[in-house]
Amino acid sequence: MDPRRLRYLQAMGIQAWELRRPLVGDGGGPPPPDEESLWRELIDEIARCTRCDLHRGRTRTVPGVGDRHADWMFIGEAPGEQEDLQGEPFVGRAGKLLDEMIRALGYRREQVYITNIVKCRPPGNRDPKPEEAAACAPYLKRQIALVEPEIILAVGRIAAQNLLKTNAPLSRLRGRVHDYEGIPLVVWYHPAYLLRNPPAKRQAYEDLKLAWRVYRERKKEADG
Ligand code: URA
Repeated sequence: MDPRRLRYLQAMGIQAWELRRPLVGDGGGPPPPDEESLWRELIDEIARCTRCDLHRGRTRTVPGVGDRHADWMFIGEAPGEQEDLQGEPFVGRAGKLLDEMIRALGYRREQVYITNIVKCRPPGNRDPKPEEAAACAPYLKRQIALVEPEIILAVGRIAAQNLLKTNAPLSRLRGRVHDYEGIPLVVWYHPAYLLRNPPAKRQAYEDLKLAWRVYRERKKEADG
C-alpha cells in the first residue's frame, strides 16, 4: 500500500490490512480511494462538522490552504474574523506578516500548507478551549498525514502547546527543535504577537533560520 495512504489510515485510527496476494476473481474489491477523494472527503466532513460548539457561530469553516504536498506546514491557532468570512487561514493583518515570513524563507504562500488547530472561529477571538482543540485534532492529524511535510512550524503558543501536548510557555518551547511523530517541529511567535511587539521580530527571524537549517539537513539526508 502507498505509504502516504497507510499513514492517513493510521491517522484515522483505521487498521490497514494489506493482502499479500490479490484476491482471485474480483480483483480484491473496489479500488482504494485516491488522494483527491481523501481530501474532498476531509474538507466535506469539516464543512459539516458539529463536534464542538464552535460550529454554532461560524460563517465558514477554515480547513486550510496551499500546496497539498508542501514541505513546509504552518499551523496556527484558530480562524479570526476575516478568516471566518473568507474561509481561508491567515488572511487578516497577522496573515500579511506570516506571508512576509514565508517569503523570507524563499516561498510564496501557495507553496506551503497553512492551517489551524481548530477550523472554526472561537467567539470574540478567544483561545480555543482544550475540548474544542481535541474535537478538531483528528482533522489536523489527517491533514498532516496527507501533506507529509518535511517540517512543521507551530505558529504561536496555542498551536505549540496543542501539537506538543504541553503547558510549557512559549519562551521554553521556541528556539529548539521538537519532534511531532517523526517530523521536526519548530515553534514560532504568533504574528499577532509580533505586530504588538515588533522587537520580538529579531528572535522570530532566528527561529526561521533554525527552521531553515533543520529543513536543509533533513533534505540533504533524504537526498543521500
Ligand atoms: N490567527 C491564527 O492563528 N490563524 C488564523 O488563521 C488567523 C489568525
